[in-house]
Amino acid sequence: MKSIKPNEWTCRPFQILDKEWALLVAGAERPNPMTVSWGSFGTLWNKPTATIYVRPSRYTFNLLNEHPQFTLNFLPESFRSALNVCGTKSGRDIDKWEATKLSPQESKTISVPYIEQSRLALECRVMTHIDLDPKRFYEEQILTSIYPDQSFHRVYFGEVCLIHENE
Ligand SMILES: Cc1cc2nc3c(=O)[nH]c(=O)nc-3n(C[C@H](O)[C@H](O)[C@H](O)COP(=O)(O)O)c2cc1C
Repeated sequence: MKSIKPNEWTCRPFQILDKEWALLVAGAERPNPMTVSWGSFGTLWNKPTATIYVRPSRYTFNLLNEHPQFTLNFLPESFRSALNVCGTKSGRDIDKWEATKLSPQESKTISVPYIEQSRLALECRVMTHIDLDPKRFYEEQILTSIYPDQSFHRVYFGEVCLIHENE
């Protein structure tokens, strides 16, 4: 893996999240990987940002609020079953590192690890967060289809501090 600056990075943003999925790692003392497929990449306050959406019902939600840093990890397709485990099981109940045989790797700019098996990993610091407001949804149907449990996502804006990419 080589480390690159965010402005040297090229990606297909819609493909990389929606189709390939990612593992969001949060928590410094007891880090936990969680599968995500909603998010975006852009610019805020003139800084490169990765934006993620996490429901309050997730164990990851508590970890992010306690320690506002995360890594966003993209793995080769052969790890799809590990992503399925991390997207269906909670870190409250199991040790997902043990269950998937993935390994945490020390980050360079933050105290949350990235995943050693990643082909691409972003180190991020949370700059701010907002909670999605159902009163502002453009279609009411979103409320019933996506939020029958009223667990509205919290949106975390992460400054991308460093990127690791396979050569
Ligand atoms: C493909 C896929 C994408 C997901 N994307 C998200 C997401 O963007 N935000 C979210 O809050 N949960 C998402 N989930 C659900 C969480 O990964 C799942 O509830 C997980 O078990 C929560 O883990 P935790 O309790 O250890 O945090 C996704 C699940 C899958 C399978």
